[in-house]
Amino acid sequence: MQFDIRSGDIAKAKTPCLILGVFDKGRLSPSAAAVDKASGGALTALLGKGDLGDQAGSTLVAYDLPQIAAERVLLLGLGKRKAFTRGAYIKVLDAALKRLADMRVSDALCAIADLPRDIDPYHGARIALLRAAQAGYRYEHTKKPAREAAPALQRLDLWLAHKKDADAFALAAAHGRAIGAGVTLARELSDLPGNICTPTHLAERALELAERYDTLSTEILEEEDMRRLGMGALLSVSSGSRQPAKLIVMRHRGAGARKDAKPVVLVGKGLTFDAGGISIKPAEAMDEMKYDMAGGASVFGALLAACEMQLPLDVIGVVPASENLPGGAANKPGDIVTSLSGQTIEILNTDAEGRLILCDALTYVERFDPALVVDIATLTGACIVALGRHPSGLFTNDDDLAAEITAAGEDAADRVWRLPLWDDYQKQLDCNFADMANVGGRDGGAITAAAFLSRYTKAYPWAHLDIAGTAWLTGKEKGATGRPVPLLSELLIRRSGAAD
Ligand code: BES
Ligand code: MN
Ligand code: ZN
Repeated sequence: MQFDIRSGDIAKAKTPCLILGVFDKGRLSPSAAAVDKASGGALTALLGKGDLGDQAGSTLVAYDLPQIAAERVLLLGLGKRKAFTRGAYIKVLDAALKRLADMRVSDALCAIADLPRDIDPYHGARIALLRAAQAGYRYEHTKKPAREAAPALQRLDLWLAHKKDADAFALAAAHGRAIGAGVTLARELSDLPGNICTPTHLAERALELAERYDTLSTEILEEEDMRRLGMGALLSVSSGSRQPAKLIVMRHRGAGARKDAKPVVLVGKGLTFDAGGISIKPAEAMDEMKYDMAGGASVFGALLAACEMQLPLDVIGVVPASENLPGGAANKPGDIVTSLSGQTIEILNTDAEGRLILCDALTYVERFDPALVVDIATLTGACIVALGRHPSGLFTNDDDLAAEITAAGEDAADRVWRLPLWDDYQKQLDCNFADMANVGGRDGGAITAAAFLSRYTKAYPWAHLDIAGTAWLTGKEKGATGRPVPLLSELLIRRSGAAD
């Protein structure tokens, strides 16, 4: 996808399709008003016929307006001006992109990025470019899309209505491109099937990234290394699989990062297939457990985006990667393992494997003396029950960090919602034979999973994102979303000061 920032006289702007916003009751946005004036009131006359309607997201296309260079104008209903906030903006953007796709327009110029009331021009522009680029994502690795299903839109330019926004728009274009590349990588990795995207495949992809970017280095820990370190929890998950587990460590050291600054560490669950192990899952929708590495994929995506943006920041991405399968060597309910931290765990349900691989990775990253650790995991079905599929679940006992991540999610249009992580939940993990059980019963299942992880993250500021409901879409639209790469990228941008 190509993007450009354009300015000047909007009536003279040559484009196959000019997108103009119209608030309810036919109230023209400033750019629409300029086009209306130049065309001798053509838009007002057209809107007078009432075909656009007052709904946010309604569209109406007009051709050959007098004195207007654009081949066609797509009028886009924005709804009430007062209600034109982030949510409405995203809704109308998607409606416009859908209409462009239906018309198979290849090239458009969009003049609504500075209109939402509660978004600054940088984020408004970035969100538009990212959504346009992602609307063209097609999974192609094992299925060539039919020609008519191939995306038509090749270019979305943004109209710069106010000169003062020029720097913000230019930065948004650069960052939008980088984050888009990160989201695409996360989606591609996640959509790959478990027989192709194995832990070994992920490790190879991480090594490839290190070849592609000067600022990135990759190290792979093998099962022997993990055994030597004492990662008994992680290794018990991979023991039932013929695919060796990998612990993938990627580090972007951006030029200009303060030498003494502590790194930001992202840890992503990389279960390339989760059958549940001996506590096997039901067959229904089990294929979707290829997405159980989506947290790991989001770490790949965020690291790629950081490299592309050349963020002056030290970022470390750690992906414990494994399968979880039943078999003669698999771990069993009642097994007790010793984690890298020394704490013992009674495995009461082998399907609660994410926390087992994460706990050892979370202990491992203590060696980096992190400024912050965020783990990202498709950890619990209970999180989907609690929150549905709109926000990711956020867990942390650090209120400032909760505020920072929540705001980053809002700005990136990739939201989270915080759930409690009170000590009250800890006793659900008590058991008679080890320091803790790996499950805490049905009640508050997303929270007890986070409570388990909290026992391994005392050495640094920490937050946990449960992305079970947000990492992929089910049903007819089945496919990875690339979330929360936009949120993680925003967090890294903020930590680096790159958009200040
Ligand atoms: N990967 C799953 C969680 C999951 C399930 C994510 C469905 C998205 C959709 C995880 O490893 C798991 O199996 N969790 C169990 C935990 C339970 C055994 C305490 C779950 O959620 O059922
Ligand atoms: Mn599981
Ligand atoms: Zn899992």
